Amino acid sequence: MAKPVAASFLTQANALFKKNLTYQKRNIWSNVRLIVIPLYLCVVLVCIQAVFDSLVNNSVDNQCGCRCADDDKNGDGKCEIKSCGLQYSSQNQAVFCAFPNPPPLLPLLHIPPSVNRDSCQRTGSCPVTILVTGNNQSLGTTLSENLLSTSFTVNSSSDLFLRNLAYNVLSTTSETDYTNYRDPGIYSDLPIFNIQPQCTPATILSLSFRQPPLEFHKEVRCVQGLNLWRNNSLEVNDEIFKGFRKENHEEIINEVAAAYDLLNTDRNKFNVTIWYYTTYKGDLQDWRVKYVRVPRSVNMVSNAYLQFLRGPGTKILFDFVKEMPKQETRLRMDMASLIGPIFFTWVILLLFPVILTSLVYEKQQRLRIIMKMHGLGDAPYWMISYAYFLAISTLYIVCLMIFGSAIGLKFFRFNDYTIQFMFYFLYINLQISIAFLVSSAFSKAVTASVVAYIYVFGSGLLGAFLFQFLIESLSFPRRWIFVMELYPGFSLYRGLYEFSQYAFQRNLNGRDGMKWKDFRGSAMDEVFTIIIVEWVVALVATYYIDRVSSSSKDTFAFLKNPFKLSPTPQMLSFQKERSDVSVEMEKLDVIQEKETVKQLIFERSKNHGIVCDNLKKVYQGRDGNPPKLAVCGLSLAVPSGECFGMLGPNGAGKTSFINMMTGLVKPSSGSAFVQGLDICKDMDKVYISMGVCPQHE
Ligand SMILES: *[C@@H]1O[C@H](CO)[C@@H](O)[C@H](O)[C@H]1NC(C)=O
Ligand SMILES: *[C@@H]1O[C@H](CO)[C@@H](O)[C@H](O)[C@H]1NC(C)=O
Ligand SMILES: *[C@@H]1O[C@H](CO)[C@@H](O)[C@H](O)[C@H]1NC(C)=O
Ligand SMILES: *[C@@H]1O[C@H](CO)[C@@H](O)[C@H](O)[C@H]1NC(C)=O
Repeated sequence: MAKPVAASFLTQANALFKKNLTYQKRNIWSNVRLIVIPLYLCVVLVCIQAVFDSLVNNSVDNQCGCRCADDDKNGDGKCEIKSCGLQYSSQNQAVFCAFPNPPPLLPLLHIPPSVNRDSCQRTGSCPVTILVTGNNQSLGTTLSENLLSTSFTVNSSSDLFLRNLAYNVLSTTSETDYTNYRDPGIYSDLPIFNIQPQCTPATILSLSFRQPPLEFHKEVRCVQGLNLWRNNSLEVNDEIFKGFRKENHEEIINEVAAAYDLLNTDRNKFNVTIWYYTTYKGDLQDWRVKYVRVPRSVNMVSNAYLQFLRGPGTKILFDFVKEMPKQETRLRMDMASLIGPIFFTWVILLLFPVILTSLVYEKQQRLRIIMKMHGLGDAPYWMISYAYFLAISTLYIVCLMIFGSAIGLKFFRFNDYTIQFMFYFLYINLQISIAFLVSSAFSKAVTASVVAYIYVFGSGLLGAFLFQFLIESLSFPRRWIFVMELYPGFSLYRGLYEFSQYAFQRNLNGRDGMKWKDFRGSAMDEVFTIIIVEWVVALVATYYIDRVSSSSKDTFAFLKNPFKLSPTPQMLSFQKERSDVSVEMEKLDVIQEKETVKQLIFERSKNHGIVCDNLKKVYQGRDGNPPKLAVCGLSLAVPSGECFGMLGPNGAGKTSFINMMTGLVKPSSGSAFVQGLDICKDMDKVYISMGVCPQHE
């Protein structure tokens, strides 16, 4: 007989690929479903974006305001000539208008609304307070007298409207907005206040300003300003703090419009700290920063200092502030990018149940051991399976990227393709190795698939509704974010989140999408490291577990309950004694066969194809049943070239015997040799010369 030779790697690979392809062909519909899901989700995202565009991005409120100029001459309800610009815009629309020549704006001081100044209710007059402190009280008092002009002063020889007002400290109680192109202090209905040390009654003036596009008509009222000296900055701080709004929003009693700490200011140096008033919404989640009205408070104290040095005739006038000119802008919020991460997390994780179920199915149906019997080694099995799943996954994500870009998802288009591909590619490697690792814990394909799908949808939902919230929360420690990213579903989510943010920002304000230079700035470096390290760890762990489980040792020996009863050597020897007692009842030919086997083993003869020595199989008792003895001490010797048939009634132990000989189960005691190779130790070599036709075929 020719010595059996293991099949070459190529032959094995070829066979396994054929098997996998057959498997895929049989499951063609679940494959089609798998491909259709990402395409479907991409289309859903595009539709959401289209709806969002028409409702928000392109809505009239979110573009520069316009007015129809032709008064509908054709009578068809359509506007032929439109005039657009700041003058036709509401407060919200103004933000989007072009400002080729920004209008000069009054530099207003921001003061607390009168309802918030508690002295209002008590005395009827509502002074605003300006606190002054410093190292030198006499200097501080002099400066604070210079802060405000005593009357509403207008330079009558100047035709410049704003210059006229620059002598006074004009102020507003209106809140600021996100942009300053249309200062609500001017455009709202609230009056402008002129702060003076003393108000004479009926000092209500009317201001009209017509210089398109800046046109307004305003009432200027007098409000009393109190300049109060405080002994030190702690007192000032304390007073402001106490006046700050309380938990219930009504109790705002802050009267302080500004406060100055003059520190060591003297004739030779001007050193000042300024507290300025602003409305605080407590909206940390609001990523847009509101404007603050600081310039006027700086000018006030500088002007006061200059007058202290040079006398009352010298003034630093603050005429106006002007925004930077800007192009017309549009609101471009890419909703699809913002909600993309949860969708794409699902899409990519969807491969996980497919891989896991396929692996567990092979185990459950004992396909793997049968393939092993037909000569498939462990190494080729893992390598080829890995390569196969990697090829499928790569194809899947490439399809996703191409399709997503093709139908216009900015999520894919705006980020560098190589960094995206690297990320997905690394992640699918991790995913496959984790599926390999986890597959050893499951014995039923159904359980595995249920658990895997829970993992898929749970990860997406937790990512979007918990993890993302924590990433965006500034107070949540970064190291805990890192710890959370160790969970593979979250590391995937984090990567997708970064892509989505870069795409969103690029669409919104033209910043660049993610490029390799942003690798460190974003959390990508962290995510890549985690994925690579986990990938290596999962591979090593899989290798170890597979080694251990294919040798006779128990896979999770180190995890097993040490107190659980397992057949101990004493129990086995006890059983042996009992069977020895029954020897006397055995038939003569049985005893003869046993003698032959003993002789053969003693001689280490290789002439016999199969030699079994006192082979036993005891199935452990379950649910209180006694242990079941399936094969009780079988000894036989089959010479090479002989055809051996085994007959017996149900339950005689034929299947258990064959299962032991083919390596499906381990014998409880005894030994057996195929071509002189021990089935307990050299099963891999035995497989080279063995062919098995399974029972159910
Ligand atoms: C405080 O300032 C005044 C000028 O206003 C100056 O004459 C005086 O010497 C200063 N006092 C101290 C202790 O520096
Ligand atoms: C008033 O304005 C004119 C022109 O801007 C300027 O020349 C003049 O000095 C101003 N008068 C005062 C008192 O500042
Ligand atoms: C501030 O200082 C003055 C004199 O140095 C003192 O009379 C006054 O009580 C102090 N004010 C407070 C609130 O401590
Ligand atoms: C301004 O005041 C601060 C605080 O007292 C001090 O540390 C700093 O040296 C001063 N600067 C100058 C130029 O005196």
